[in-house]
Amino acid sequence: MNAPSTQPPFLETQNLSRTFGHGAQLVRAVDRVSFTVRQGEIVAIVGESGSGKTTLGRLLLRLLDPTDGRILLHGQDVTALRGGKQLRTYWRKVQAVFQDPYSAFNQFYTNARVLSRSLDVLETQPSREERLQRTIDALREVGLDPEDTLFKYPHQLSGGQVQRVMIARALMVSPELLIADEPTSMLDASLRVTVLNLLKDLRDQRDMTILFITHDLGQAYYIADRVLVMYQGQMVEQGPVEEVLQNPQHDYTRRLMSDVPLLRGRKSFFGQ
Ligand SMILES: Nc1ncnc2c1ncn2[C@@H]1O[C@H](COP(=O)(O)OP(=O)(O)OP(=O)(O)O)[C@@H](O)[C@H]1O
Ligand SMILES: [Mg+2]
Repeated sequence: MNAPSTQPPFLETQNLSRTFGHGAQLVRAVDRVSFTVRQGEIVAIVGESGSGKTTLGRLLLRLLDPTDGRILLHGQDVTALRGGKQLRTYWRKVQAVFQDPYSAFNQFYTNARVLSRSLDVLETQPSREERLQRTIDALREVGLDPEDTLFKYPHQLSGGQVQRVMIARALMVSPELLIADEPTSMLDASLRVTVLNLLKDLRDQRDMTILFITHDLGQAYYIADRVLVMYQGQMVEQGPVEEVLQNPQHDYTRRLMSDVPLLRGRKSFFGQ
C-alpha cells in the first residue's frame, strides 16, 4: 500500500481554498487545506455542519473551482481541468456518492438507465449488451438482485437499496477514488453498518481509495484508516484514526468525541 517515496502521493491538496460571497458576507468554506492520501486508504473527513466538508468534496470532484490552492492526482495538477472532455477523463478516475440519493437521480429514469448513463464519461462507448452486462455486474457487486432492481425507478426502492444503486453507479467506470459524502445519513443503524462494510469490501477487493465524509466520528472510527478533522473550513487535526481518538490535540476534536460517548476503545460500538 505504501508507495515508494520517489512517487508522488496518490492524492494531494496544497492550500486548497474556496470562499463564497464578498465583504462582510465572505465565507471561507474551505481555508488553506493541505493533505495527502495514499492509494487504497480510507480517509474520513470529519466535522460539524457547515465546517466545509461538502465544499471540499465538490472541489476534489472538480464540480467547483477553488479560489486558491491546488489538487494533484498522481502528482498531476488537476486544478485547471476545464471543459467536458478533460473533466470526463477525470471522472473516469474520481466518482462520488452523495448524501441524498433520491435527489441525485433523475426520477424519470429507471435504475438501468441511471447506471448506464454513468458510462457516458468513457472515451469509447460500449455496446448495448456491454452496458447491460456492466450494469448487472455493478448491481451484483453491491448486493442487489439485478432482476428485481434494473427496471424499477429509484423511488420504488428503500433508502438502503437506492444508496447501493448510487454506489453501483459510481463503480460502473471502475474509479480509483470514491468520494462518499455522508452516504449513510439517511439510513437506520443496521443498514448503515451494511453500507460501511460494503465500502470497506470495495477498498479491499478493488484497492479503491475512499474519502468518507461524515459528521460522525463514530463512523469515521469504524471505517477509516486516517481521519482529517475540519473546523470552520480549516483542517485542524489529522492522523491515524486510533491516534487521533486516543490523543486528540484539538479542543474541537475532543468536543466531537464527546458526542459519541461509547466511542473510546470500542470497535464493537457498531455491533461488529
Ligand atoms: N454555494 C454556496 N454559496 C454560498 N455559501 C455556501 C455555498 N456552499 C456552501 N456554502 C457555505 O460554506 C460553508 C461550508 O458549507 P458545506 O456545505 O461545505 O459544509 P458541510 O461541512 O458539508 O456541512 P453539512 O454537515 O451540513 O453538510 C457553510 O457556511 C455554507 O453556508
Ligand atoms: Mg455537507
